[in-house]
Order: sequence, then structure tokens, then C-alpha cells
Amino acid sequence: MTTPFVARSAEVARLLAAVDAAARGRPSTVLLGGDAGVGKTRLVTHLADLAATRGASVVTAACVDLGDVGVPYLPFAEALGRLRAHGAAVEHLLRERPALARLLPPSGEHPAPAAVDDEAARLQLFDGLASVLAAAGHEGAPLMLVLEDLHWADASSRDVLRYLVARLRTEHVVVVGTYRTDDLHRRHPLRPVVAELARHPGVDHLELRPFTAEELAAFARAVAGREVPPDRLRTVLERSEGNAYFAQELLESDDDAVPWSLGDVLRARLDALDPAVVDVARLVAVSGRTVPEPLLRAVWHRWTGRDTATAPAAGPGAADAPGAPSDAVLDRAVRDAVAAHVLVPEADRLAFRHALLAEVVAADLLPGETVAVHRAYRDALADDDALGSAAQLAHHARAAHDLPTALVASLRAADDAARLLAPQDELRHLETVLELVEAAGPAPGA
Ligand SMILES: Nc1ncnc2c1ncn2[C@@H]1O[C@H](COP(=O)(O)OP(=O)(O)OP(=O)(O)O)[C@@H](O)[C@H]1O
Ligand SMILES: [Mg+2]
Repeated sequence: MTTPFVARSAEVARLLAAVDAAARGRPSTVLLGGDAGVGKTRLVTHLADLAATRGASVVTAACVDLGDVGVPYLPFAEALGRLRAHGAAVEHLLRERPALARLLPPSGEHPAPAAVDDEAARLQLFDGLASVLAAAGHEGAPLMLVLEDLHWADASSRDVLRYLVARLRTEHVVVVGTYRTDDLHRRHPLRPVVAELARHPGVDHLELRPFTAEELAAFARAVAGREVPPDRLRTVLERSEGNAYFAQELLESDDDAVPWSLGDVLRARLDALDPAVVDVARLVAVSGRTVPEPLLRAVWHRWTGRDTATAPAAGPGAADAPGAPSDAVLDRAVRDAVAAHVLVPEADRLAFRHALLAEVVAADLLPGETVAVHRAYRDALADDDALGSAAQLAHHARAAHDLPTALVASLRAADDAARLLAPQDELRHLETVLELVEAAGPAPGA
């Protein structure tokens, strides 16, 4: 059961005003920043519910933490897939602007993108996305596009966002983007983008603050389902500093033994779980915050098989025998992890219920353990292209200290990025290639 929504009335009013303006053909973008766990997602899901009751269509897409991997246009590809459900207008635009089809899973339905020069195709892609959004919003029934966790957005997605802000004029569209303020260190690539966009007249920039003492009391009541004693409330306020996620974890933990730091609270929760659940959590944590279920399964097989004498030599597919007993263990562990609110299913992926928990799990792995998990990902991805991208393979191979595989995969990832019209990503992968070549040192005899 989710906790009833509390506080945030000023933010809700501002966001609803933006939705109402979009309903009248005055589009805008709202940037919602705030620390990890402060309540951004909860605020936008609450707003999405309110907007939907007013007739808006809501499409939510999230950026994903893939380390330095990045998948070009990820949130927009996800949004585009969702928007196809909005009927004929989108299909028509897909036909008119073939560059858009690059963002959709390959199918015979749409013409293969014509080989035109990349800059033109990129413009067509951006323009196509803007047109799709425009076609999905109508007078009195605007489109609310939620882009979650922009601090993890890839370079191409940041460009699309800037393009949209500049381009939207009279469309019935409101874009709401969330990002973690505490992640935006001085050289974070989203930082200049936020600074630039915040100056634009079509952008409302909101910073979500931690709960005040009064708000925290209401939140605590909502979480506990009853009045919380003032003493305890004071401790929770002190330790959480008003952060919703921290406060919730403290409120849900055992009264008598509230450990001091949040890391300890989260670790205590993990300690109480079945070891197989912790294993699954570790595998998901090393992949970022989420992992597609088929990839997790393949990695699980390789990772659980790694201690047996034959494991590393098992070779492609060998560990994947259908009905392997470890499948049943994995299924049970995943079910338990979901029941324990560690993981949540999201479409065909499994995600940590909260990114902070993923960070604690990843940080608690010993370096050797982390390398072993990366190696399992490398093997799974190398054996079956369908499980992930070349960029992911490059990332895991590099973290597993397998430089030759990382090099070949980075070259492939650069090709993939070029095909997707994502020049910054292409460049980044090529830079990785150079670094790997340099790391390998001069060829013998050179
Ligand atoms: N206003 C609120 N009313 C009720 N519950 C809330 C509220 N704000 C936050 N919460 C709860 O607190 C927890 C953390 O909030 P949330 O996940 O929205 O944080 P976040 O800012 O999106 O964090 P992250 O940056 O890690 O994504 C969630 O369980 C959420 O349901
Ligand atoms: Mg969130």
C-alpha cells in the first residue's frame, strides 16, 4: 500500500497551473530538482493522477543509470513507444519522418531510414519527436510528458530536451523533468543544461525542499498510520533532515534499535533477507538501478555457476540449459525481493525500489566481488547480442578488466551510436577505444 500523499501544496499548484496552461495551448517545461529521496517521483506521480482526472494524457519515461554506457535517446525512445498507443497521428508521423523509426524496435512496418546526411537526419529526428508530442496533446486534453531522473540522461537526450524547450510555442504539451540536485557535481553535463534552460521564459524551475518539522509529522502519521510520539518524531527529523526516503526507512525500522546512519538502516534491512535475495540485489545493483529480466537470468546462471570447477569454461549457452535448477532459485529470490520491497518489476525489467538502496548494495561489494559480477555480465552479453547493447558489453568488459573485449565492443558501440545519430556518444566510445589502446601499451617489437 502506498503512503497517502502529504504536503507540497505550493508545488502541486504550480505544476497544475502548467498543466492547465498546456490545455489552453500554452506549453511549458517544468524542471523539478531535489536531493535523492526527497520526493520528486512521488510529487510527479501525484500530479500525473491529478492531470489525468482533468483529461490530460500522461506519458512517463525514465533515464537509467548505466554508468558510462548511456543509450542514445533512451527516455525519448521509451516515450515514443508509449505514444504509439495514441493512435493514427503518431503512425502517420513515423511514416513521414523515417528518422524517427530509428528509435523504435526494428520491425518490417516502417521504411528503413534512408541514408541522408547525419545532421539532416538528426534534425528530422528532433523535429519528428516534437511533432509527435504536439500530435498527442489537444485543446482541453494536453499531453504531460514526464522525464524522470534527467541526471542520468545521455547526451542526445539532453539535446532533444533543449530543442523541445526552444521549439514548443502553441502546442498542448507540458514537459516535466526531474533530476537529483545532489548528483549535479561541478562538472556534471546536465548542470549547464539546467542553467541554460532555467533562463528560458518557457521553463519553470522548481527545487523540492526536504520536509519541514510540521510536514514530517504529517508524513510520519501517513507512513505509520497513526500518531507518532514526539520524541521519536524528533529523532527521525534529526537523522533524516526531512528527507522523505530516509524518514520512511527510519520510521519503518525497529523502534528500539534505530541505527544512526541511513546506510546502516538499509544494511540492516538487507541483512534480514535470504542470501539468494541479497545475491539478486547485488547483480541488479552492479548493472545500475535496473536490469532487463532476461539479462538478469543469463547473468545469474553464469554467476551462480562460477564456483564450480567447469564454470568459466562452460562456454556459450552451456549454463543456459532450459529448466536449470538455478532458475527456480532465481524466481523465488526475485519474488521475495519484490515482496520485501527491495525490487519492483517495471515492464520487462527489474528495478530497485529506490536508487539509494542500489547504491548501498553496490558500495558494500568488495572490489573482487564487483569484478566477478561484471565478468558474469560480460559473458552473458558476449554470448547473446539480444540481451543488451555493445555499449553495455564494453562497459562490463572494461570493469571486468577484459580490455580486448572492451575494445572490440567499444568500436561496435561507436558504430551503433553513429547509426542512431548520436555523435557525442559515438565520440565517447571512440575515446574509450583510444584509451584502451593506450592502456595496452606499444605492440611487442614496436
Ligand atoms: N509528499 C509525499 N507524500 C507521501 N509520500 C511521499 C511524499 N514524498 C515522498 N514520499 C515517499 O518517500 C519516498 C521517497 O520519495 P521519492 O521516491 O519520490 O523520492 P525521489 O526524490 O524521486 O528520489 P530519487 O532521486 O532517488 O529518485 C517514497 O517512498 C515516496 O512514496
Ligand atoms: Mg525518483
